[in-house]
Amino acid sequence: MFKKLCIIGVGLIGGSIARAARLQKLAEIIVGFGREQDVQNLQTARQIGVIDDFYLDIALAVQDADCIVIATPVASIEIILTLLKPFWSANAVYTDVGSTKGNVLVAAHAVFGKIPANFIPAHPIAGAEQSGVLAAIDDLFVKKRLIITPAENTDTHALRKVQQFWQQLGSSVSVMDAQHHDQVLAATSHLPHILAFALVDMLGHKDEQSDIFKYAAGGFKDFTRIASSDPAMWQAICAANKNEIIPLIKQLMGELDKIQQMLENDDSQQLFATLTYANHARQRFLNQIETTMSKSQTFQIQPGGKLYGETRVPGDKSMSHRSIMLGSLAEGVTHVTGFLEAEDALATLQAFRDMGVEIEGPVDGCVTIHGVGKHGLKAPKNELYLGNSGTSMRLLSGLLAGQSFNTVLTGDKSLSARPMKRVTDPLSEMGAEIKTTEQGTAPLHITGKSGQLTAIDYTMPIASAQVKSCLLLAGMYAQGETRVTEPAPTRDHTERMLAGFSYPVKREGSIAIISADGSLTAMDIDVPSDISSAAFFLVGASIAPGSDLLLKHVGINPTRTGVIDILRLMGANIEVLNEREVGGEPVADLHVVYSPLKGVDIPEALVPLAIDEFPVLFVAAACAQGRTRLSGAEELRVKESDRIQVMADGLQILGVDAQPTPDGMIINGGKIGGGVVTSHGDHRIAMSFSMAGLRADAPITVLDCANVNTSFPEFKDLVKSLGLALVCTEE
Ligand code: S3P
Repeated sequence: MFKKLCIIGVGLIGGSIARAARLQKLAEIIVGFGREQDVQNLQTARQIGVIDDFYLDIALAVQDADCIVIATPVASIEIILTLLKPFWSANAVYTDVGSTKGNVLVAAHAVFGKIPANFIPAHPIAGAEQSGVLAAIDDLFVKKRLIITPAENTDTHALRKVQQFWQQLGSSVSVMDAQHHDQVLAATSHLPHILAFALVDMLGHKDEQSDIFKYAAGGFKDFTRIASSDPAMWQAICAANKNEIIPLIKQLMGELDKIQQMLENDDSQQLFATLTYANHARQRFLNQIETTMSKSQTFQIQPGGKLYGETRVPGDKSMSHRSIMLGSLAEGVTHVTGFLEAEDALATLQAFRDMGVEIEGPVDGCVTIHGVGKHGLKAPKNELYLGNSGTSMRLLSGLLAGQSFNTVLTGDKSLSARPMKRVTDPLSEMGAEIKTTEQGTAPLHITGKSGQLTAIDYTMPIASAQVKSCLLLAGMYAQGETRVTEPAPTRDHTERMLAGFSYPVKREGSIAIISADGSLTAMDIDVPSDISSAAFFLVGASIAPGSDLLLKHVGINPTRTGVIDILRLMGANIEVLNEREVGGEPVADLHVVYSPLKGVDIPEALVPLAIDEFPVLFVAAACAQGRTRLSGAEELRVKESDRIQVMADGLQILGVDAQPTPDGMIINGGKIGGGVVTSHGDHRIAMSFSMAGLRADAPITVLDCANVNTSFPEFKDLVKSLGLALVCTEE
């Protein structure tokens, strides 16, 4: 990328940049610059190979350099820029690593009269308590954030170059203005450092300090770790960003005052609420790091094997969503067991916490919801981010249309591309006010129309449980009787669960009917295993000779069992054992043994009853003798991915004769080969191609599999324990 990289200040950060740049072969030669008093450190840096050479003369250091990185403490930036000014080259890019950025721009202005267009201020959010080149490591910036704070006249070419440089060092690069950067960092880095230093300062001055330190344990060590950082560096950072830090210190003192008063007044309830809120906020922060910094996952599957044993797959996703929604609207405390601890259901859970509902857990699938009643939700402080979850967004849009506050619903890239008009159109007929993008997609801006919704009699153009549920939830807040007619039966968990919560819902043939007359009474919910997750194993065991698998406690609601019917039509050997009813939902153990499959024409009536299982059913069809034909399933094109196209592309790569049609697929099965396919970030595609490995004659690699966490985080461990040779790699 560069001929000569010059690092000004070869300490922990500068040294780590040099090390990583060398490892990634980003520069032909790497030199350092320092002052007289840094000679020893520079000699060490050269000796251990971090830099090729060093200079104490800036002219020589930067001569012919095409990338100059200023990695000295923040307070020295003006001196360094002054040193560089006479040798400033238009052919080079300049960047720095300062933890505060406003002062860097001020310094550049002071030295040059304007900010040079090829100077790109940056801040890697990475570090360690140690300093000096000996502490430098190769991967200090890997999977860390880096913020670039360009000025108005920044040269876009230089910006791109610096961005690429940091990306190559492994960082995830964001761009924002310097002031915003300083505000954010004051809250998340500078204030915590001040707190750690202040606490240790206070305790260190106490007479009994040796006892305090003697008995201090992990918590103290964790909390005060950052007080081991370089005091000179932190003094300079605090001074440079004091305008942002001082208001935060005041705010924190207010918070401490409040806690002090709670203690003085023995207000344990308020204290608990404060601690609980903080605890959840931290969890949110951890989840966010995990998602934003989450590594991409690749599944590698060795061909062959069989599935053998017994297992209980995780809880039903549809029911988990609904348990949180209805439990939150109920009067009293609802206990949920078997809750699906996966990203989609957790997105719903978080949304209700954001609307003021106290929810404990999940711990081992147990969640306790302190219901706030039908009219007890509160306005969330921020937009509600629903990740990948279409069910959360569509059902919530109905529920939120009739509230007394406004909301904004957002989602990830896939969810933001999915059609929302199917819910916003009928909702607007009820008097709801919801803005979408021009394409009819999220973000959804919902204006709460409390008391102003009116019931409709709506015949759905598509058989969708999400649309039906959305309108039933809106109907709970509308004047009159809302009637939703479905063109074909769709999953009825909403109706069943509402009835479980004692909320009146009627059914007349294909019409579900609800009104605002009613309230929900808390109940206990036992969520059975998700038949959609069990489906991967039903297919896996059916296609792999020697398989014999017992799937325990699976929900077999007749609106969900299309996969069993279709597989049986194909010749699968599936027994439904120990049928029982748990909390208004039928449940059974499913015993599946290998059996040769044959191709079939899939009856269209079964499509809505197996809507989420087609990716894996396509794999079954690819292993079956003869032709399988699916039609009437155009809905598959607007799921988490276009499941018709993505599965057809992948199957073709694996050598299968799979022809997509506008509303389905024609597959001539019999043989599956190996190859590299991609899931396009769709959990069910990733798991389906994994199962194909059981019958493939060569290894299969499935790219982009991290999204399996949206519905089935345990998948990769579970399949391995049951006999599929799957290895997950992350990068
Ligand atoms: C769901 C309904 C189905 C299904 C989705 C979950 C639900 O969507 O595909 O995974 O929980 O109501 P549609 O209503 O769009 O068919």
